Amino acid sequence: MNNNNNKNPLTEKEAMKKALKRKTRYRMPSVNIGVLIVTVILFLIIGVCTLVIISRNDDKAPLVTGSSLESATVENAVDEEKPKATEISVAFPQSAIHEGELILVNADHEFVFPDVRDDVSVYDNKTLSYKVGDMNVTLSMTAITAFNKLMDDFYAETGCRDVMIVSGGGFRTEEFQRQLYSNRVATDGAEMAAKYVALPGHSEHHTGLAMDLSVYTDAGEGYAVRAYEKCKWLVENFENYGFILRYPEEKSDITGISYESWHYRYVGLPHSLIMKEKGWVLEEYIEYLRNLPEGTAISWNGIASEEISLEGIHGGDYVVYYVPANETGDTEIKVPKNREYTVSGDNVGGFIVTLNGGHTNE
Ligand code: DAL
Ligand code: ZN
Repeated sequence: MNNNNNKNPLTEKEAMKKALKRKTRYRMPSVNIGVLIVTVILFLIIGVCTLVIISRNDDKAPLVTGSSLESATVENAVDEEKPKATEISVAFPQSAIHEGELILVNADHEFVFPDVRDDVSVYDNKTLSYKVGDMNVTLSMTAITAFNKLMDDFYAETGCRDVMIVSGGGFRTEEFQRQLYSNRVATDGAEMAAKYVALPGHSEHHTGLAMDLSVYTDAGEGYAVRAYEKCKWLVENFENYGFILRYPEEKSDITGISYESWHYRYVGLPHSLIMKEKGWVLEEYIEYLRNLPEGTAISWNGIASEEISLEGIHGGDYVVYYVPANETGDTEIKVPKNREYTVSGDNVGGFIVTLNGGHTNE
């Protein structure tokens, strides 16, 4: 039984070494697997975190540029990249060159009658500060509104309400103008008729923006407005309300019509004031606007006009510029954003843009 002990005799030291060696061999693998698992888990966590960060930065990348990330929010960075639009473009058809407050109607430029007229009764829409020859006189509401304001201020200033828009002195049909013309030829001859009566289709009265004025007192007396002492304030203020004396004495070679002290035309502000300052009739003003160099405008600051670059328009001033119409199709007209504007045809070949003073709709 004791033979086994005798077969492989080991000293105590050798036995301990062997046992230790065996233990070491057994424990080493268990330590490596644990470290490996922990290491793999750590790598997995770091990998997932890295992927999330990269993916987030990828989302932001198109929205920011350069070093703006530190100082700007993502939204701000986007705003900085895209310049805000400062103007808008509006399309006007060819037919629109014949419409508006600034259309030139004379022997060379025939009026184009629209399909639908917008004239209204003066009698129904006037204030009590002036008179009208009969209930059939009609005008454009724009002209009546401006005339009401002028005459109300005139009455407040002077107490006078003797001025009258005469019968037949507002809007006229082509047929009515034809009768007037042939009547004048019959009474005064063709030469005289041509000096004072426009050919049918060529009268400003077709526009609804022109009016013939007279003084008609409560006592039944008649006078010319410009010769009536009480009308001094009125004569001096027509232009402040958008009206012009259309056929001045010294300009008949340009207008083609002899002096008419009674015929006034609404053109709106600031055009009446610029024409007064320059001493121009409508023919000259339209010619001037049509010849403004591209990118140039005329401004009115309430006192004087000035030629300016369209780049540097001032918010408080009226600004006027011209856009020639395209030969075919619509004409795209650029106007500043958030600025009140009107566009009128010139009845010649383009559009007159008026930027009103001051910003609106901010
Ligand atoms: N008296 C003006 C010119 C017209 O007939 O229209
Ligand atoms: Zn007239």
